[in-house]
Amino acid sequence: MAEPPRLVITPDGPYSITSADAVTVLFARSRSDYSTGRLTPDAPADAVLLCRCGRSGSPPNCDETCERSGFQADPAGRGPDTSREAGVQPRLAFVENGPIMVAGMDVVHEDGSVTSLTDHEAPMCRCGASNDKPWCDFSHRVVRFCSQKR
Ligand code: FES
Repeated sequence: MAEPPRLVITPDGPYSITSADAVTVLFARSRSDYSTGRLTPDAPADAVLLCRCGRSGSPPNCDETCERSGFQADPAGRGPDTSREAGVQPRLAFVENGPIMVAGMDVVHEDGSVTSLTDHEAPMCRCGASNDKPWCDFSHRVVRFCSQKR
């Protein structure tokens, strides 16, 4: 039986999504205006690396700009702002010019601790500017984050 998907946070690097084929992917302009999509697998083919520094040239995927730019992602540790949602399937919703709404999976932090989002949805920063990494604190509005390819 396949392992359930997880979001693994790499130190000062991207989010790694395991068992990515089992994750529903949405690209959302709002809660009612969205399209479904797919993630482009990286090597190994089962995992997908997603940008969280906000500077990738091929968003939402990581292109290692984080490594070249010396991105630092010290977690602030205040915890996520979650909303409860029973029985949710693994899902990533990329909010236009905003966070990734993550639901239905565990989040594994750099220190190995786990935040379970199996029954919750939480916004995770992908602009690189949050003061509460890895969680979104709406700093994307301050820095005018653009989630499109530049
Ligand atoms: S996406 Fe970075 S603070 Fe919201």
